[in-house]
Amino acid sequence: MNNDIERVIYNQEQIDHRVGELAAQISHDYAGKRDIVVVAVLTGAIMFTIDLYKKLDLYAHIDFVDVSSYQGGTASTGSVKLLHDLKNDIKGKDVIICEDIVDTGRTLKFLIDLLQDRGANSIRVCSIFDKPEGRVIDVNADYVGFDVPNEFLVGYGLDYKGLYRNLPYIGVLKPEVYQRKS
Ligand code: IMP
Ligand code: MG
Repeated sequence: MNNDIERVIYNQEQIDHRVGELAAQISHDYAGKRDIVVVAVLTGAIMFTIDLYKKLDLYAHIDFVDVSSYQGGTASTGSVKLLHDLKNDIKGKDVIICEDIVDTGRTLKFLIDLLQDRGANSIRVCSIFDKPEGRVIDVNADYVGFDVPNEFLVGYGLDYKGLYRNLPYIGVLKPEVYQRKS
């Protein structure tokens, strides 16, 4: 699997270090709060969320939501659908949404609107990666690990056809991988 990678963008050590910095910042910002829910956006944010969650010095629940972006009528109207809902009632809670990457911003906008409607006390977003050049909707994460180039990336949760999520780093696939039939 590692042989399919053309270039590493951030290695395991860099990611681990940055996750530690984000956890320290969030632990500082939320100190004293007792109604925190960390929400991982399945499936891509699993790796990051667990790494971050283990490093938070906070009383925090963890919960999971799954959404899928799919193309509506035309390629430019991507819409988002809820596939798996939270277990927690987040009314009055301080919610931290954890994402793998913010690209167009559609997923994030959908989730923020949903959780706001449900009466969360506060909502902030922490994304390990951000592709600012991909943005279609004006929405941003409050905590960002790394800005990344506007290329298709895999690893540390990000997939191509469901694979490569388990790479401990983020990188770019070799062009020949996209030409494979399966
Ligand atoms: P958005 O709604 O366009 O911001 O999409 C965010 C979602 O698209 C992320 O949670 C990822 O699942 C997926 N995504 C965006 N860029 C990449 C990439 O480079 N590789 C793999 N998945 C990506
Ligand atoms: Mg995702």
